[in-house]
Amino acid sequence: MSDPVLAAKDIRKSYGHGASRFDALKGVSLEIAPGESIAIVGKSGSGKSTLMHLLALLDNPDSGALLVEGTDAKQLKDAAVNRLRNEDFGFVFQQFFLTPNATVLENVILPLKIAGVSPKERKERGMAALEQLELADKAKNKAINLSGGQKQRVVIARALVNNPKVIFADEPTGNLDTATGKLVEDILFDLNRENGITLVIVTHDVELAERCDRQLFLRDGVEAPAL
Ligand SMILES: Nc1ncnc2c1ncn2[C@@H]1O[C@H](COP(=O)(O)OP(=O)(O)O)[C@@H](O)[C@H]1O
Ligand SMILES: [Mg+2]
Repeated sequence: MSDPVLAAKDIRKSYGHGASRFDALKGVSLEIAPGESIAIVGKSGSGKSTLMHLLALLDNPDSGALLVEGTDAKQLKDAAVNRLRNEDFGFVFQQFFLTPNATVLENVILPLKIAGVSPKERKERGMAALEQLELADKAKNKAINLSGGQKQRVVIARALVNNPKVIFADEPTGNLDTATGKLVEDILFDLNRENGITLVIVTHDVELAERCDRQLFLRDGVEAPAL
């Protein structure tokens, strides 16, 4: 058995101090196997996004440990954490986070630019990712001029451009109509099946959660047996 791609051991996270302190995660443990798809499910405020941010090393827990392929994240140097976030992890958020006045291609190749890939290779890999998402004809359009579904496909192309091991998706269909949301879901699950990309999906959508191999239910910052 290979190491879990990600593991959390009794992680806790609070926001604020004193009377305004809020315990968002109160001791959560989980292991995510390579190639697995897992849904983190719970009501608004249950700690889903906090857990995802910690798993993606976007934030540090107050206590507990995060392991990436068996290595404690605390032992990784900043450069190694940055490389993981940029090259091994892809991100798909509800709010898209595209640069509106940059072109679709420029948005997609941003992680490659950060990784120091040459302009020629950036363009080739960016266009390949756009072709995979059937958006090659939109490469020169400004991101702002796309529909919601097209924007989310651009976000997925950007998440893919570094051949990530894990895609983290936080309410990926939250801003899309049902039909467009289903298309975006299909793309994510195709990538999981065909490219073996591990999926960590935060959602309160029960149907989306049921499409994943496994569900982790959160209630008030702790794992619940079910909702
Ligand atoms: N940066 C922050 N500062 C203060 N409170 C926060 C912050 N981020 C999240 N919280 C609080 O922590 C709780 C869990 O938030 P979050 O993980 O975003 O939940 P979910 O994604 O399940 O809606 C919420 O009550 C939220 O208000
Ligand atoms: Mg959230």
